[in-house]
Parts: sequence; C-alpha cells; structure tokens
Amino acid sequence: MTNPFVYGKVARGECFADREREIAELSSDILSGQNVILFSPRRYGKTSLILEVLDRVRAQGVLAVYLDLFKVVSEEDFVAAYAKEIARLCGGGIRAALNRIRSLLPRLIPKVVVKGEGVEVELEFEFDLRGAREPLLDDLFEAVAVLAREREKQAVVVFDEFQEIAGWDEGERVQRQMRAHFQHHAQVAYIFMGSKRHLMQDIFQSKNRPFYRFGKHLPLGKIPEEEFAAFIEARFKSTGFQVEEGAPHRILEITENHPYYTQLLCHVLWDRQRDERLITADHVALGVEEVLSREAHAFHEIWEALPLRARQLLVALAREESPQVEIYSTKFLRRHNLGSASSVQRALERLLSEELLERVDGKYEFTDVFFKRWLRREFT
Ligand SMILES: Nc1ncnc2c1ncn2[C@@H]1O[C@H](COP(=O)(O)OP(=O)(O)O)[C@@H](O)[C@H]1O
Ligand SMILES: [Mg+2]
Repeated sequence: MTNPFVYGKVARGECFADREREIAELSSDILSGQNVILFSPRRYGKTSLILEVLDRVRAQGVLAVYLDLFKVVSEEDFVAAYAKEIARLCGGGIRAALNRIRSLLPRLIPKVVVKGEGVEVELEFEFDLRGAREPLLDDLFEAVAVLAREREKQAVVVFDEFQEIAGWDEGERVQRQMRAHFQHHAQVAYIFMGSKRHLMQDIFQSKNRPFYRFGKHLPLGKIPEEEFAAFIEARFKSTGFQVEEGAPHRILEITENHPYYTQLLCHVLWDRQRDERLITADHVALGVEEVLSREAHAFHEIWEALPLRARQLLVALAREESPQVEIYSTKFLRRHNLGSASSVQRALERLLSEELLERVDGKYEFTDVFFKRWLRREFT
C-alpha cells in the first residue's frame, strides 16, 4: 500500500486538500478574463492549486496554458517552452497541429520529436536567433488570444514563478512586449504566480515597470485548520488507520498548518505506523523527533554559517509562541535583549535573503517549521 501523503511534488486529486474558496474565485476570474497576481511563500501550494483549477476550467472548455519559469533560464528557452504549450493547445492530429502552428508562429521552425515507443509525439521548436526577435514575440504573445477567438472560448495562461523572468529579461524588453499584447486580450486571463515577495512586488507594484497594476492581487494563505484536519484524518482512514481524536490538530499545531510540512510529517507518521495502523498524540511526538533527527545535520550546517546577530535573532524568534512576530516591536526587542531596531535590521536581511525567514502579512515567520523546533530544542 502506498503512502497517501505527498510532499515535494504537486498535490493532485486525492492528495489535494480543500482550497474550495480559492478554486471558486480563480475559476470565476478565469472565466471572466480577469488577470490575477497570485502570491505566497514557497510550498504553500500555489502550483498544486492552479493545476487543480486548470483541470476544472479545462473541463468547462477553457483553453489553458501553464508555463513554469523556474525551468526557463533564457529568452530562447522561454520562446521554445511557450511555443510548445501553444502547439499542445492546437491539439488534433500531428499534421493539423503542425499546419496550425506554422500559421500562428510562422517564424519558428517546428520539429517533431517522437518520444518513447512512438505513441507520444511532441512538437519542439527551433528558430533562428540572429533574426529580429520582436516579430517572433509578437506572434507568440498573440497566439493564445487568436485561438481563443477562433474557437469562441475563454483562455488562461499561467506563468508560475514569474519573478524568475527578471533573471534574463534585460531592460524588461520581453515584459514590455508581453504587456502590450496581453492588455488587449479580453478573452484571455493571465495569471502570474510567484514566491519571492520583493521581486513580485517590484514587478507588479512599481510605477515604472511594465506590469504595474496589471491584475488583481490574490495572496494565498495556509489551509484552514478544520478542513486540513478533516483531510488528514480521511487520508489516514482511507488506508485503514485509526486516528485518535485530537491527533490531526496536534499535527497541525506542530506544522502551523503549513501545507508542505504537514504532508511531510504525515508521510513520516504513516511510514512509522504502517504495521500498527494507529496514530495517537504520542506517535505524533515520535514522528517529530524522527524528522528532527533526520534534519539535524543540515540544520547544524545552516547554523554554523550564520553570524552571531542572525543566530540571536533566530533563537529569539524560535522562543516566541505565536508563529508570526513583529520583530521591530519594543516588546520583542527588549524581551530578548536584541539591542536596537537598527542592529536587528541587518541580521533580518541576511535571514530573509537566505530564505530562513519569510515575511507574511508584515510579520516574520520561519520558512521551515522544523528548523524552528530544532532551534527551540537546542537553545532553550
Ligand atoms: N491543497 C493542498 N492539499 C494538500 N497538500 C498540499 C496542498 N497544497 C500544497 N500541499 C503540499 O505542499 C507541497 C508544496 O505545494 P506546491 O503546490 O508545490 O507549493 P508552491 O507552488 O506554493 O511552492 C505539496 O507537495 C504538498 O505536499
Ligand atoms: Mg510552485
């Protein structure tokens, strides 16, 4: 029997919990052509959520394109990846798709790639980079809208980890060109997702940037406790486990409802108890110990690489009861003898840039709830 809890890859189907409100909101945005900027810290479940939404709107006839910019490291990559998705949208037989793509993207040379045993055929693209890029990008950025118009359907294009574009789009040339096209597409909703707060803010909230105020902002939070607890219980029970009352809430208390760390802890618990098929609060505590001892080595290395001030700040934060803390409050600074607000500033910047801390609603929290636990255990 396989473990019903997954982490480190997108949660689909049965592995996906709740998010009904967000699914409804995003679906209706897509159907009405509303552009959305979806932000959350890493591993909160953006990708899982949007793929679930895309499955649902596809079933309603919406043309959907999903592009992960994390895997794109240059403009050439971007063009090839986008073109490939457009080819996928064209659908039909390979010959029909080829013809369609030739007229939509006349400057690209499609190449048919046969994968596996010849059952799966994919289109890949080659193009001459010495030629002018603008016309090529013009075609590319119009293609989805053209298809949507042709078929009289709504369409959606998702750019996951959009902030990564800043790495190769020098002078924002590509972004400017994107905006120039996208803003005229009433039938296409564009969704930009990202997990690096300051980069996303720079892109969408700076007046002089091409995507300034391009869509509605939708910050994604954690999964509500009741729904998540019910999900955990149901997943255990579906594999014949008994779950002591209160155990799911104990799990969520430890993981602070963080989607990824919750799945991770549940995964470990399931493996530990696969013979006994029972989860009690005691088992939860043992599972946490297991996670901590697995990670201890990595945590030690992180710790050793940090300057003193940063360490002090981390320990102070780990000691706090609530998950989120207002670092600059006098109360906090005093309680932990941290000195002045300005001296804390640099330590904070370091911890944010290493992604050990994250800013959430103007406060700060640990990216990794188990790192916080480890600090608590070691230093308090
Ligand atoms: N709705 C959900 N239900 C259950 N688990 C989830 C859900 N969303 C996210 N997760 C868990 O969190 C992990 C990270 O999700 P992911 O979608 O990759 O986040 P992001 O794209 O924000 O980094 C998943 O591997 C899964 O373990
Ligand atoms: Mg993601």
